[in-house]
Amino acid sequence: MKDSDIDTFVQEIIGWYSINKRDLPWRHTQNPYYIWLSEVILQQTRVKQGLPYYEKFVNQYPNIEDLAKASEDEVLRTWQGLGYYSRGRNLHHTAKYISLELGGVFPGDYVSLLKLKGIGKYTAAAIASFAFGEQVAVVDGNVYRVLARYFGIETDIASSEGVRKFAELAQKLIPADDPGTYNQAVMEFGALQCTPQKPNCLFCPLQTTCKAFHQGKQHILPTKISKLKSRERHFHYLVLCQEGDLALKKRGADDIWGGLYDFPLLESGTAVSWETLLYENKLEAFSENLRLQQESALFKHTLTHQKILAKFYQVVVLPPGLPKEWLENQQFAFYSWEAVQNLPKPILIDNYLKKKFLIK
Ligand code: ADE
Ligand code: SF4
Repeated sequence: MKDSDIDTFVQEIIGWYSINKRDLPWRHTQNPYYIWLSEVILQQTRVKQGLPYYEKFVNQYPNIEDLAKASEDEVLRTWQGLGYYSRGRNLHHTAKYISLELGGVFPGDYVSLLKLKGIGKYTAAAIASFAFGEQVAVVDGNVYRVLARYFGIETDIASSEGVRKFAELAQKLIPADDPGTYNQAVMEFGALQCTPQKPNCLFCPLQTTCKAFHQGKQHILPTKISKLKSRERHFHYLVLCQEGDLALKKRGADDIWGGLYDFPLLESGTAVSWETLLYENKLEAFSENLRLQQESALFKHTLTHQKILAKFYQVVVLPPGLPKEWLENQQFAFYSWEAVQNLPKPILIDNYLKKKFLIK
């Protein structure tokens, strides 16, 4: 590739950006803490849905110390609805680390940023270039798409060869002069102009030099051969009520929704009846003590590589109750209705509570 080809691409992208960019709050700051917040949130969701979360975090925690001092439950509650709760927990962890171990000073270069928990290559490059002007390229889904199309690259972006190739090209393209603006510009171009489904090729400043456009390949690029198939999981929640209080437990860190609260849970590999469920969980001897009052309709919840099919069983526990081992294993506690509303919960649980109790 000639240097003049690189210059053309960079100039056109930056020119397009200066006219078409959206006015977004994190584009008015060089504060690495705010930029970090915005990038972590935007990895989870689109700009429109992410904006209110960004505002919430900035208002609730104007400084990294404020975030560090908050409780994990509160941070997860603020994060609630963004999904991937381990990211919310990492955010809190890293805020505490910077605040307590680094004297509140945000690391100022790509390599140091990469060492922080929850900060990968993309986020490190974004913070380093936007906040500190370091010449390091971001590579996200938008960048893959724009580069694959403009330069006509057909390598699978999910393969290790693809990852290396695109990272090298991106790094070759990024200019020394204002690399942060260039990074924002490519991503914005991908988000608004060279979009996944309907790229606006007819009114595109790159049209005359775009390989995909000339070959009519804009709709098949980038190449992505997905490896992971989605896994189905069947959740059976026991909604235990005791004098108006509800049984909830905090999920461990090693599965989805770590740190969030949900009901005592039984899981099965396939859709099963209530009787089979008790049998599979060695609870059939206790079925007399569990009086099933109501079985909900199926709630469907889709995650990146998992599809969750959940049922809620409202049951009354009659004396002498459930086996001790099972109770110890589940580790739930009873919470008042007020407390239940304030605990961080998966959206699935919120949806059930809303439907059942007609709240909020
Ligand atoms: N998506 C990821 N980072 C972004 C940013 N800084 N601005 C707009 N969209 C983004
Ligand atoms: Fe993307 Fe179409 Fe522009 Fe090429 S011509 S960069 S495919 S919008």
